[in-house]
Amino acid sequence: MRPVETRVLVVDPDKPDVAAIRYAARILQDGGLVAFPTETVYGLGGDATNPRAAMRIFEAKGRPPDNPLIVHIARREDLWLVARDVPQAAQDLVERFWPGPLTMVLPRTGMVPDAVTAGLDTVAVRMPDHGIALALIAEAGVPVAAPSANTSGKPSPTTADHVIQDLAGRIDLVIDGGPTPVGVESTVIDMTSTPPVILRPGGATREDISEVLGEVMVSPVALGTKMPLSEGVPRSPGMKYTHYSPDAEVRLFEGDPRRVVPRLQAEAKGLIAMGKRVGIMCTDETKGAYQGLSVLVKSAGSRRDLSTVASRVFALLREFDRDGADIILVEGVPETGLGFAIMNRLRKAASITR
Ligand code: TXA
Ligand code: MG
Repeated sequence: MRPVETRVLVVDPDKPDVAAIRYAARILQDGGLVAFPTETVYGLGGDATNPRAAMRIFEAKGRPPDNPLIVHIARREDLWLVARDVPQAAQDLVERFWPGPLTMVLPRTGMVPDAVTAGLDTVAVRMPDHGIALALIAEAGVPVAAPSANTSGKPSPTTADHVIQDLAGRIDLVIDGGPTPVGVESTVIDMTSTPPVILRPGGATREDISEVLGEVMVSPVALGTKMPLSEGVPRSPGMKYTHYSPDAEVRLFEGDPRRVVPRLQAEAKGLIAMGKRVGIMCTDETKGAYQGLSVLVKSAGSRRDLSTVASRVFALLREFDRDGADIILVEGVPETGLGFAIMNRLRKAASITR
């Protein structure tokens, strides 16, 4: 693709500058691409009613063409512009979660082109909970298609710098509104089946969704599980797409920290003896156990505060790359609350799960 000049505008999320938002909205109306913060991660926005804008999004990210985009709206009632046959259960979720990190898959209207849904007859839609995102979408006056603003396969961007690292020269504008508070993407739930099915765990927890819906299923893909692999065993063909992967290899250690810590220590020692630069992503509770073992020990936060871990996990994966790690050994966290989304991302990032 032809390189474009990528501008960066710093905007206060609590009081978005009107002129800046107008400028960005104008780019969207002209079919251009604007990266902007949401409460989850930065999104790469284009006019969701413009097939050419949608195609540019796929091109800028290098995204496989069969992976549809999420459509973002600024008002609850705009759901009806893009979706039809909305069941009562979906309306209940809107009441409870919007604006917020919940994306619903529903039958689409004619307003949403094939280019956005990758030809599916459904659309994924959400109303983000972020001052800049809401102001931008409202000012553009159209629904905004926005996948995460990273190169396909890389960790999702939680700062404007992450977006610039991946997409400078490929998009028109980045709105820098500081780090995104939630840090993992929205939960995607398919509301076209009964009971509804969680396709991707995310910022809205399974527990909170169950409180509204009662029964909710979880798709096997949402677990992110891969069969445990021993070293040297090739990955199965079904794992052809990498996800959330830093340049360094990720090895994930799951289970009780009392058993994980000694296993991880042993693995680190072995790799360091082989001359590898080893990063260790741990938690506040276990950090002390790795001091002196490697120079690259980073805590994602306390195991008792998974919202902090969620907000840091993608940024830390990128930091290990910046610091030149060859291999990142990652301690898993409990799968309750936001831990479900965190573990899904880590399993997908990992080449080996022990
Ligand atoms: O938090 C988020 O959801 C962020 C911010 C920017 O809003 N966006 C995001 O988009 O994570 P993306 O493109 O990285 O992930 C969209 C997910 C993909 O897993 C895609 O397959 C799924 O939503 N999806 C989109 N449309 C769908 C549809 N019609 N049916 C099923 N899954 C769909
Ligand atoms: Mg993504």
